[in-house]
Formats: sequence, structure tokens, C-alpha cells
Amino acid sequence: GQHQHTANAVSSEGSHDHPNDGVSCEKIVDKETSAPIRKFELTAARTTVKLDNGKTVEAWTFNDMSPGPELRVQQGDRVVVTLHNKDIAEGVTIHWHGVKVPCSQDGIAGVTQESIMPGNQFTYTFTASEPGTYWYHSHQMSSIQVQKGLLGSFIVEPRTSSIPLSTATEISAIFQQLNSAMLLNGSASGLNLAGKAGDYERLRLINAGNDTINISVDGAPFQVIAMDGHDLHETGKLDGVTIPIGAGQRYDLLVQLPEHNKVVIRNDLDKSLSITFGSGTDPEPSGGREMFSFVNYGSPLPNDPLNKLTVDKQFELRLGRSLFVSSINNHSFHEIPPMNVKEGDRVLITITNEGGGDHPFHIHGHTFRVWSKNGVLLKGSPVYLDTLLTKKGETYEVYLVADNPGLWMAHCHNLQHASMGMSMMLNYE
Ligand code: C2O
Ligand code: CU
Repeated sequence: GQHQHTANAVSSEGSHDHPNDGVSCEKIVDKETSAPIRKFELTAARTTVKLDNGKTVEAWTFNDMSPGPELRVQQGDRVVVTLHNKDIAEGVTIHWHGVKVPCSQDGIAGVTQESIMPGNQFTYTFTASEPGTYWYHSHQMSSIQVQKGLLGSFIVEPRTSSIPLSTATEISAIFQQLNSAMLLNGSASGLNLAGKAGDYERLRLINAGNDTINISVDGAPFQVIAMDGHDLHETGKLDGVTIPIGAGQRYDLLVQLPEHNKVVIRNDLDKSLSITFGSGTDPEPSGGREMFSFVNYGSPLPNDPLNKLTVDKQFELRLGRSLFVSSINNHSFHEIPPMNVKEGDRVLITITNEGGGDHPFHIHGHTFRVWSKNGVLLKGSPVYLDTLLTKKGETYEVYLVADNPGLWMAHCHNLQHASMGMSMMLNYE
């Protein structure tokens, strides 16, 4: 496949250096569990980055890049990442967004660890048990540090795949807003990718900014094959449908390249920043721009154990925002009582957006299943997320099993909203 900014590409024993991204990665086997071990080194630093449009911007980087190197591992790998802080005065951490790590590895400054001060380091260790598209970012003063560039993509390749991977090339594409410049894999001018008619392309889209990104695909029908890293079941092709990716969310798209024209993926925030596959003529813009809805997309899983709902605990979260305060149930961060659960609890959470913009709600350490939207049960593929995009007036019910003990954050992933109070805790008693 075509991996940009890839920091793996190591399959044999021993250690390899990748001079382009400064990541050294080795693959050895854990003697006790016989799981492969993947080691990475990341250094956070203040730098200036020269963009491909000629501009130079101040950035806080991992290994002198923003985004930092793509970390790519295989399902089942033990992942060992040592984070060094060169000179970020406030300290740094890494949060593995969407990845089910033990709480001690979740990277929450002041909660799961002290932030790593200049000259210090911290090693994160966890097993990448679920394949999918994830990302990593600092979680120390994250509303500032993410916007300054301390982020990157994290891909867990599946051991087996339900899509025709033999013919698919794939790429992750991470959108960020770096000091107000919109970038795609660090580029200010977009991506042009090869590909010939008949090829399948798997595109792992990651929204690392604060605003919802609306994606359009012109030139061929496409499928949404995964959301937040979790495969959808038997999804059909879409045409002329806009994909709204909330802050923090990921969407995996699959598109087969047509005979005579390119496929162009555009976003509404920066029209010039597109992804182009293949050659031939420019595509006709596809018709009607209906918004994608997962409510009836794909087909249900037969014999799904979750087809019946058992609930031990219930919570209701009303997300609201005025000019100066972002709140949950009319309270702000420290005043919001935690969601207290016990291990094993089956938890139903009702989330309502009472206005003040989009609120993509993220729960750490867990994936939840979307049960209903505005009172309508999901009838298509099960949808598992870690970040739920809510728009004004919408109400969702989501369901999770409390299976990862600890003290976890739950917050809006518009990180400005989070820092202004739309943050709370999920606590195991
Ligand atoms: Cu991606 Cu608490 O965040
Ligand atoms: Cu919000």
C-alpha cells in the first residue's frame, strides 16, 4: 500500500532506522506472551515547520513533524512507545484516542500520570487488540497542544480483513488545524495519489481539528466501511452523500477507481485541500448533497448478543454552550458529578445537544454502541464509536459495557469547549 509518513515497514527481526521521520522501530517478540513487540520513540519539541506551500509556521512537533509519524502496528502487537519531552515547558503526554488501553496508559496529565517535563521521558505500553483507525495526541492542556501540532495517526492493521485488501491500497489522511492553517498529512496543498482503474482504495480519514469536516467524494460511488476504527456490517455504496466527520472521529472509506476519471475527495473547510486518486479527467461533482446517516446503513449482525438491551445504570448528559461557558447538565467540569459505574455494569447514556454548535462527545477507554438517534432505533449495521458527533437538537442513546476499570475522561472533542467546561469523568467505584 501507499503509506505516507509511515513509521513501521519493519517485518524482520532487529532494529531499523527511518531517517525521514526519525522513528526507530524494532520488532521483537515478547518472551512470555509471544506477542510481537513494536517499539517507537517520539520526541516532543518546539520547532518551525516549512509547509509545502512555502510558508513557515511555528509548531510543536513529534520527531520534528506535525503530524507526528504515523504509528502502524498489527492487531495483537505489544506497543511500546517512549515519549521524550525536549522543551515543551508545560509538559506533555500522549493519549491514544479510541484505543482501549489500561487506564494507567491513557495519558491524562494530572489523572493517570504526571505530565512529562522537559528532559524527561515516559514509556507507554499496551496491546493493540482491536484493529482500526485511531490517533494519538497530547492530553496536557490539549486545547492548546493539539492545535500547536502534537498529534499523529495510529493504525492497527487487522489480522484478517473483510474487505478485498488484496486489491486495496490504503492510506491514512489526518486533517488538522495548525495555527489556523488547515493541513492534510502535513500538506497545505492536498494529496495526489496514483491508482489505476479497478483498484480499491481504502482511505482512513481522521479529524484532528476542532470543527466538523464535511467530506464529499466525486468520481465514483464509495462505501463507509468503518467508523472510529470499527468495521460496519454489509454496507452499501453511496453516491452524492456528504460525510460529516466530527472532531476526533474517524471514517474509513472504500472506493473503486473508475475507468476514465479521477476520484476527488474534498472537504468544506478548505476547498483547495483535496485528495485525488488515479488519473484521467476531473470528475463531475456528484449530485444531491444529502448528509450521511448511519441509522439505517448496512445490515444488522445476525445473532448479535447486543440485540437485546440489559441496563444496570443510566445517565443523561445534556451538552450546552453559551458564549463563555460550556456545560454538561448546566454544570462545568469540576461541578459535574462523575458517571459512577461498577465493573461489569451495562450502561445506557442519553446524550442531547442543547445547542452552541456541534458537540462531538468522546469517552475514553471504552467503545460504545449507538442505540438510537432522536428516538429511532438503529436498524442497520451496529455502530460502535468512541466519539459521537451530536448536532443541535439531537438526542442519542449509547450503550457501553463497563469493562475497563479506572478513572476516565469524557468530554466534547471540540477541545475549546472541553477546556471551557464540557468535560467530566467516568469513574469505577
Ligand atoms: Cu482525543 Cu480526551 O481526547
Ligand atoms: Cu462541544
